[in-house]
Amino acid sequence: MAAPEKTPSEGAPAQPLHVAIVMDGNGRWAKRRGMPRSLGHRAGVEALKRTVSAAAELGIRWLTVFGFSTENWSRPAAEVAELMALPKRYFESDIARLEREGVRVRVIGRREGLSGELVRLIEDAEARTAGNDAFFLNIAFNYGGQADIADAARRFAEAVAAGRAKPSDLDEAAFASHLATAGLPPPDLIVRPSGEQRLSNFLLWEAAYSELIFQDVLWPDYGLEHLKAALAAYAARDRRYGAVAQDDVLAAG
Ligand code: FPP
Repeated sequence: MAAPEKTPSEGAPAQPLHVAIVMDGNGRWAKRRGMPRSLGHRAGVEALKRTVSAAAELGIRWLTVFGFSTENWSRPAAEVAELMALPKRYFESDIARLEREGVRVRVIGRREGLSGELVRLIEDAEARTAGNDAFFLNIAFNYGGQADIADAARRFAEAVAAGRAKPSDLDEAAFASHLATAGLPPPDLIVRPSGEQRLSNFLLWEAAYSELIFQDVLWPDYGLEHLKAALAAYAARDRRYGAVAQDDVLAAG
């Protein structure tokens, strides 16, 4: 993953290039309506469709969404099965349009544990859109930040053991090149709807200097207006990357 492009003196850029979203609140949305959780997840797919369009409309280039975590396997088997069916539901209805509109789809996370049919579906979506570069949609599925860091460490250790790398080769950039997010810019903004305020193992390495915004809306209700509000809050942030603001540099001098 590339180092942050902005320098501290640039402060808050008006527009994040890369937004990441924890799509949370499907279960509560369904419960409030007296519906099974599965219908909340299906409504979550509709919110994803709306949000991809909204993000492109608002000038975002990279959108990364959390669809299934390495910890979600601990949910009841019937709910896991429903969650496993969501990529199929999404790709069957939208992959042709995503392909046509120049969206490159990438699914990050462990492929082990997924059914052969799902892996083929993911590979097909990635292959069909591989040449696109108008918008980048990354779906984190069977993804965990800690798992990804452990996998990256293992891959680097294997390279050392095979004589392809030396321990002294390892710095932040070299390590990031072994992560599932290699080649993506770090997320400028991570949004979590549903009122919960935590990362839940999402993009742990990549979030080092992300701005975090928590919104009081359940994911199935999410759309253009909520994303606009998140961007407005982001625009008011002062990004310093551990340095000091330019005014304070002058004041200190
Ligand atoms: C968390 O909400 C949400 C999930 C575990 C699933 C998120 C998935 C989608 C929104 C659709 C994804 C689409 C694709 C293509 C993968 P929750 O169920 O934990 O909600 P709760 O906290 O209210 O119970």
